[in-house]
Amino acid sequence: MYHLIPRDLAVKSCEPDSAGIRVTWNDGHRSYYPLEWLAKSGRSNKSGERQGLSSLSLWGNGIKDNEPEVQYRDIMNSDQGVGEWLTLLHRYGFCYVDGTPATPEATEELLKRIAFIRHTHYGGFWDFTSDLASKDTAYTSLGLEAHTDNTYFSDPAGLQMFHCLSHTDGEGGASLLVDGFQAAADLQKEDPEAYNILSTVNVYTHASGNEGISIQPYRAAIDMPLEEVQTWYDAAAKWDRLLKRPQYEYWKQLQPGRPLIFDNWRVLHGRSAFTGKRRLCGGYINRDDYISRFKMLKWGRVAGLN
Ligand SMILES: [Fe+2]
Repeated sequence: MYHLIPRDLAVKSCEPDSAGIRVTWNDGHRSYYPLEWLAKSGRSNKSGERQGLSSLSLWGNGIKDNEPEVQYRDIMNSDQGVGEWLTLLHRYGFCYVDGTPATPEATEELLKRIAFIRHTHYGGFWDFTSDLASKDTAYTSLGLEAHTDNTYFSDPAGLQMFHCLSHTDGEGGASLLVDGFQAAADLQKEDPEAYNILSTVNVYTHASGNEGISIQPYRAAIDMPLEEVQTWYDAAAKWDRLLKRPQYEYWKQLQPGRPLIFDNWRVLHGRSAFTGKRRLCGGYINRDDYISRFKMLKWGRVAGLN
């Protein structure tokens, strides 16, 4: 709600009341500005708040002693419970929901408390045991290094939920989370040039493993003059080594009844290899819809529309 006021469009009258200010403009247009909205519109870091980047707590593996967690019943019982959930999720980039029935139905209903589930070429809400139905390593029992999902989309999923419904006849499969913002903040301090290269140079990605699918948003290949490309590779290798530092790696065995949700634009995820039969379910939520729900619950409609 920005107002760029041309010189010839001046205020004709301005009448404050107890809840706001009523303005009549020279062209006859009338506006009303609630005090609550005016108070918020003057604050700093508005751009960060709009992008969902304010009030973050960065973490390393010490987060294992302070895991963000809410109760399933609180989320299902009231929007206030959803607001507390999203506040923790937003601050830390992940959160557990304790006391969730270990069923796909309950997990899907839980996700829908935030917004509708994002469909992709893999489907919508998923529920699978380890097999090779989709041509993606996520569907195997192999270990997976820390990564984010959907880098090949123009709009990667904002949130992902994992709920381990059962794990029988085997072991392993611990989940790995890494706070990418913490690692990036450290890279910026340790090697500003590498940080600058990685945050400004476009990189080509695609997803073409499934029959009939080739998702290739228009992006350049490593978009640098050939004689400078080595600097990008050096920066990427540095970033890769940094992300594998044990101080960033938070490992956790997921439990039935305690789904994990995380911010796919911030927190990298992975897992160790496992044996036996594991059944997991979960789904994606769009970032725009997650941030919208978060802002409306945190600030309400009037103050949130800044
Ligand atoms: Fe993944």
